[in-house]
Amino acid sequence: MSTPRITSEELRELAVQLAQEAGRLISSGRPDRVEVAATKSSPTDVVTAMDTASERLLRERLAALRPDDGLLGEEDGRTSGTSGLSWVVDPIDGTVNYLYGLRSYAVSVAVVEGEPDPSTWTILAGAVVDPSLGETFSAARDGGAWLSDATGTRRLRAEPGPELGQALVATGFSYDAGRRAEQAMVLGALLPRVRDVRRIGSAALDLCAVAAGRVDAYYERGLNPWDMAGGWLVAHEAGALVTDFAGGRAGNHGLVAAGPRLHPELLTALG
Ligand code: IPD
Ligand code: CA
Ligand code: CA
Repeated sequence: MSTPRITSEELRELAVQLAQEAGRLISSGRPDRVEVAATKSSPTDVVTAMDTASERLLRERLAALRPDDGLLGEEDGRTSGTSGLSWVVDPIDGTVNYLYGLRSYAVSVAVVEGEPDPSTWTILAGAVVDPSLGETFSAARDGGAWLSDATGTRRLRAEPGPELGQALVATGFSYDAGRRAEQAMVLGALLPRVRDVRRIGSAALDLCAVAAGRVDAYYERGLNPWDMAGGWLVAHEAGALVTDFAGGRAGNHGLVAAGPRLHPELLTALG
């Protein structure tokens, strides 16, 4: 039996529910001393028991609620589906912060139409939960971007952005040493030209920070689909431009998010 049709708004609500449950798990279950369970692409690209537990929870819930959908998760890879929809989940975005007891980490849950591939996907809904601040960012395609916390829910509208010299710009760095050397060169050229730079440590929260006006822009090369899917839609639906470094479609090769006034100037500066 095929899965009944579901709207983007219903998918947003489901993404919120799942990301909040996983957010509660990782925050209430965080031990005083977090151990590294394994390493992945480099000795500093770590997995904790909670990354695995959070992804397991998301997989179990989705297998029960949306059995025909595909799923791409950071820790356990890809499960294909038959519905044409795929969930793209990062069970902890900001694992290094989580490991060290820094509070900027999140769960990102998104659902895309088509393959879970940034070069072709259409992101239908996404949720990014920051359990430390009790904040849930979410978006539905053509349905706006929203921030919910203990005080209520408000619509997010990204600012046009200041001129480059006044811009607070977030970025992130790869786990790969070679790529980091290139990123340092780009950052070295940009830093004297902007207000300042932030390295928050969670790509999902960086993108939501653009949506909420907490930074003016965010850029990074080398992101994986799970790092960007949820936050990308939140930033886009808030009115920010999300592209690659050349103004084309964002992806692993590059993502730049900023308000429409700042975005072209930032692309030129990064060029
Ligand atoms: C990382 C974070 C970080 C970004 C890296 C990502 P993880 O994800 O989003 O901010 O700079 O590129 O890999 O490993 O914490 O899920
Ligand atoms: Ca991530
Ligand atoms: Ca992760």
